[in-house]
Amino acid sequence: MPKMELVLGIETSCDETGVALYHASRGLLGHRLFSQSTLHAPYGGVVPELASRDHVRRLVPLIAGLLESARMRPADLDGIAYTAGPGLIGALLVGAAVGRSLAWALDIPAVGVHHMEAHLLAPGLEPRPPEYPFVALLVSGGHTQLVRVGGVGDYTLLGESLDDAAGEAFDKTATLLGLGYPGGPAIERLAAMGRADRYRFPRPMTDRAGLDFSFSGLKTFAANTLAEAPPDPQIRADIARAFLEAVVDTLVIKCRRALKATGIKRLVAAGGVSANQALRARLRALGEEEQAEIHYPRPEFCTDNGAMIAYAGYLHLAAGQADPPAIIARARWPFGESPAG
Ligand code: KG4
Ligand code: ZN
Repeated sequence: MPKMELVLGIETSCDETGVALYHASRGLLGHRLFSQSTLHAPYGGVVPELASRDHVRRLVPLIAGLLESARMRPADLDGIAYTAGPGLIGALLVGAAVGRSLAWALDIPAVGVHHMEAHLLAPGLEPRPPEYPFVALLVSGGHTQLVRVGGVGDYTLLGESLDDAAGEAFDKTATLLGLGYPGGPAIERLAAMGRADRYRFPRPMTDRAGLDFSFSGLKTFAANTLAEAPPDPQIRADIARAFLEAVVDTLVIKCRRALKATGIKRLVAAGGVSANQALRARLRALGEEEQAEIHYPRPEFCTDNGAMIAYAGYLHLAAGQADPPAIIARARWPFGESPAG
């Protein structure tokens, strides 16, 4: 098998253009991120066509700058990993086309990475990576899932959201509260000024067995509470706080259940919502109560980034897995299926 030391990772599934270099023995050599959030902010959400066009503008200069800063040349690359799904199809196709073409020109293997797999493997980039098996709480803008992870490629879905993802609930509730996009960090800031005992939101689906989630009702609860409340900035902060506490509490209750149900004493939280400080603090407390290890990526690798793609792609490429030379991207891609479906 040809050597697999240096892998370029490319992430373009949504509104961040991310690139990174992962080295077999030296670890992460560098990463770059261009966030499109100001581009989409006036629309209150990601506009797919604007996202694709901006990835086209940013991606190649980002790769060139990354290689230069790491003092590497394209010829030094041994493999390329790009996000092949799930995500916005036009945005995914930009990364897939660039990654595939570069691999073709350099005559090196390339692999399409599952975006959520990359999220759940991201804590492996930290100084003390989690051992297997672990339970992963994946909380992003598009997904809320609990997964049993036995090893790379060994994933069992334990539960998931039946409607909105946790991040989506943050974004929609932020819009109701007149906050900008992305909603998660904005709600976190506003909630810090809220009073703890003013409102109490429900903890959806915690009163019945199982590990599935439902977050759309919380957004409706926020809308109704807001409609009945006086137009007062303090009240808005109180609502943000009650909403945040309900989401965090619900996630923690289900994580505790998942640890108990699997008998595993190791939890990984990943995806954009895992950057939330309230959630991280509550998970730390859960770890102490259950005597379980808690792992999460550094905050910049919780949200979308190229480093997690380079790392997950490296693990697959080093195991000899690569895809045939076709440009494949999937807007919807269930865990466990091959990228070609
Ligand atoms: O993983 P990610 O960057 O993209 C997807 O794969 O979807 O997650 C983005 C989501 C957004 O919904 C955003 O509002 C949420 O993560 N998010 C947060 C925080 N930072 C990002 N939610 C709560 N608290 C945060 N600090
Ligand atoms: Zn993501």
